[in-house]
Amino acid sequence: MNIKNICCIGAGYVGGPTMAVIAQKCPEINVTVVDINEERIKAWNDENVENIPIYEPGLPEVVKEARGRNLFFSTDVDAAIDKADMIFISVNTPTKTYGIGKGMAADLKFIELCARQIARVAKDDKIVVEKSTLPVRTAEALKNILDNTGNGVNYQILSNPEFLAEGTAVDDLMNPDRVLIGGDIDTAKGKEAVDALVDVYAHWVPRERLLTTNVWSSELSKLTANAFLAQRVSSINAMSELCEKTGADVNEVSKAVGMDSRIGAKFLKSSVGFGGSCFQKDILNLVYISKSFGLHEVADYLEQVIIMNDHQKRRFAAKIVQTLFNTVSGKKIALLGWAFKKDTNDTRESAAIYVADYLLNEQAEIVVYDPKVKTEQIYADLDYLNTRSSEENRARVTVVDGAYEATKDAHAVAVLTEWDEFKELDWQKIYKEMLKPAFLFDGRRLLERKTKEDIGFEFYAIGS
Ligand code: NAD
Ligand code: UDX
Repeated sequence: MNIKNICCIGAGYVGGPTMAVIAQKCPEINVTVVDINEERIKAWNDENVENIPIYEPGLPEVVKEARGRNLFFSTDVDAAIDKADMIFISVNTPTKTYGIGKGMAADLKFIELCARQIARVAKDDKIVVEKSTLPVRTAEALKNILDNTGNGVNYQILSNPEFLAEGTAVDDLMNPDRVLIGGDIDTAKGKEAVDALVDVYAHWVPRERLLTTNVWSSELSKLTANAFLAQRVSSINAMSELCEKTGADVNEVSKAVGMDSRIGAKFLKSSVGFGGSCFQKDILNLVYISKSFGLHEVADYLEQVIIMNDHQKRRFAAKIVQTLFNTVSGKKIALLGWAFKKDTNDTRESAAIYVADYLLNEQAEIVVYDPKVKTEQIYADLDYLNTRSSEENRARVTVVDGAYEATKDAHAVAVLTEWDEFKELDWQKIYKEMLKPAFLFDGRRLLERKTKEDIGFEFYAIGS
């Protein structure tokens, strides 16, 4: 089966980059990315490719090459569904904020809406691909909706979870460790659908990295991968606290441990806590699924990863308060970085939000500088917590355009995102313009201790 037209519902951090790369690598396939968010689609179509809505290194070049040739962004969801042989669903699946499973289960309402829309519009057979991260056995529910509300057309449901990380999305997509495709491999139709998707990826991914499994294994593998990665970060962060008490250095411990080939070096970097739209959401989802099967020990085990992460964020903020003579009331604290990691403008679940909220509760005055995050986003993140009125957030938090503006006259500076440019700052100048003693808190192990202490900073870094 030859795929000629692909539609992707959801033009977000996954849908946009993933489809841009498919379009670039498969010039004979038409790829249309659709979204109900008009502003987002408008930005994807912006003449100046630097204005696309997602900041991701290398992405503008890919979009520039394919857009208008075989890559299209549109709000006409029905038309794109109608035309497509293969439909990717790449909509958001956030943690539920209401009802049963509130605060834990994945909210599948956007997924269900997509399924109902496909069922309403489709007039010929379609392959529907789950690109969103979904609870194990979601494909069953999708199939049920499609088969019972559709126009009698045949659907094959595939699971093709995305493993890209933000900030390195283009590299990850161009050169993936593996591409996972789950399908109904025991039936001829199912096998045909799996092969069709394999052929798309085989345009640029070596065949041995294209892994096919049954649907349930594929759905569960995605959640498992995120749980394992997050667990490593929480493990090293647990050690960071012990390092601080014992004189060990978490970077040295992490290097020593990571050189064991059975453990490996990646994802052992201690930090102020992991953020991002995936880790917490996906672990909570696993906790919820485990509990719903009565697997309480499994649920408790996984939940500790989140408990540790919350502790790490709180502990870092508390350290700032304690070090500043137990009060930050009325003191100016400069936060360098708001994104949940470098090289992205995404702030979802960023540790910075929680550190800022903690310090605001302690009556600090916060000044934020991030190279890529927009001012309105920072206020929206704080407002979302609902800790105080949005007027108060605006009165007590200032967002500025540069690091020196942020740090001038500050009592303390905290590095919360590991942006490369923070390493290159003129720290001598920053020291000179701060109040004394000048406190510097490194939540990312980004800065070198010796040079900062030589300048005169009172320096604290996670895990040493
Ligand atoms: P996102 O919020 O950036 O994008 C989702 C988009 O879907 C939004 O623009 C929204 O308007 C659109 N949408 C929602 N319902 C729609 C509908 N009915 N019709 C048309 N458009 C609709 O989310 P994201 O970060 O791209 O994540 C999408 C999925 O991929 C999630 O399940 C997530 O867990 C998973 N995932 C994310 C990442 C990541 O790094 N962000 C990585 C791997 C997997
Ligand atoms: C993650 C997974 O890596 C990716 O495979 C999946 O598809 C989506 O979720 P992402 O959240 O975009 O990707 O970024 P990631 O690099 O995993 O970082 C997540 C968080 O963990 C960030 O806040 C990062 O700073 C933090 N982190 C990561 C650490 O604190 N230490 C590390 O060693 C690695």
